[in-house]
Amino acid sequence: MSIAFIDLAAQQRRIKPAIDAAIQKVLAHGGYVMGPEVRVFEARLAEFGKARRALSCANGTDAIALPLMAWEIGPGDAVFCPSFTFTATAEVVPWTGAEPVFVDVLPDTYNLDPGKLEAAIAAIKAEGRLMPKVIVAVDLFGQPADYPKIAEIAQRHSMKLIADSAQGFGCTLDSKHPIHWADVTTTSFFPAKPLGCYGDGGAVLTNDDALWDVMDSLRVHGKAVAGDLIGRSFHHDPKYLNTRIGMNSRLDTIQAAILLEKLTIFADEIDARQTVAARYAEGLAGAVKVPAVIEGGVSVWAQYTVEHDDRDGLAAHLKTQGVPSAAYYPVPMHLQAPYARYPQPGGLPVSEAAADKVIALPMHAYLGADTQNCIIEAVLGYNG
Ligand SMILES: Cc1ncc(COP(=O)(O)O)c(C=O)c1O
Repeated sequence: MSIAFIDLAAQQRRIKPAIDAAIQKVLAHGGYVMGPEVRVFEARLAEFGKARRALSCANGTDAIALPLMAWEIGPGDAVFCPSFTFTATAEVVPWTGAEPVFVDVLPDTYNLDPGKLEAAIAAIKAEGRLMPKVIVAVDLFGQPADYPKIAEIAQRHSMKLIADSAQGFGCTLDSKHPIHWADVTTTSFFPAKPLGCYGDGGAVLTNDDALWDVMDSLRVHGKAVAGDLIGRSFHHDPKYLNTRIGMNSRLDTIQAAILLEKLTIFADEIDARQTVAARYAEGLAGAVKVPAVIEGGVSVWAQYTVEHDDRDGLAAHLKTQGVPSAAYYPVPMHLQAPYARYPQPGGLPVSEAAADKVIALPMHAYLGADTQNCIIEAVLGYNG
């Protein structure tokens, strides 16, 4: 039997006629860029994520860059983020001229450690070289960061809070989505994400209309938006009046059309992922360290990540059994050559230890019990 790490084909079989029809509709109307599906999708996405507005863009990396650009984050500013995350979280910070400050994570959830965040902000303030401006909390592997504590820290230090929910879109804490606490929630529609499209895509959710307008300008080369035209007349297409330096970061209409269909089954898929995670937790308890979820949290289980002291040995064994696995992430950001020069106050021992031990097992909403039992048996059969 061939076991998929993420079975996108099973999902497609479920909704193929609807996806085919949605794509055909775009081909028929021809509005490939910023077509009607984009606006409809933004409205539905905002509704799902309990935000006032959603702004789609080209990918989940730009989704983090857009609010940083809109807030005019730049040289001399510090943006605090975890090191145990995908590159994009930190990558966008030097784009703006600001510096990422790497903060350690909690050993059980792998999400930002509020105590260490507080200490890192104090260290940067004491040093006086950088001004703390933004915190980027990541919903790693699908589960919400400790937003009540992180948002309280952000407020006390007058900092902005980004929820990088590329892996966690749809997750909740005490039934609330991250936007309840964050200034923006960002996400990625990379195909393997819990809510993915058939290419690249991303979005920013916010309750701030003015911020949405500025990001709308930035995603289309700094075009003039309504606020820019107050008190002046411009008799041409406002996209030819450039009021700020922007970028080209739009979600393709075809991807929006696909996402609209996928969104209709997303809540059901999140439920199915809970069943799969529960089966793993029960079957693997004692053999490996199974993931812990924050109290009151619901993970969307982008990954099911366990820990084993001999991670590489387990991965090699699983391969012989036909079970795919992956190490997310084997090298934390603060140890990657281009990022090693950025501040990492207090060190990051938890991130470094986790990087050596984590191994993600196949996880998706369509993982059946029989296949999952084979995976569990394969893990239990490793005597490294
Ligand atoms: C935590 C995190 N942030 C940001 C991104 C960037 O998303 P994209 O690949 O769509 O640019 C990813 C994607 O893998 C991610 O996992």
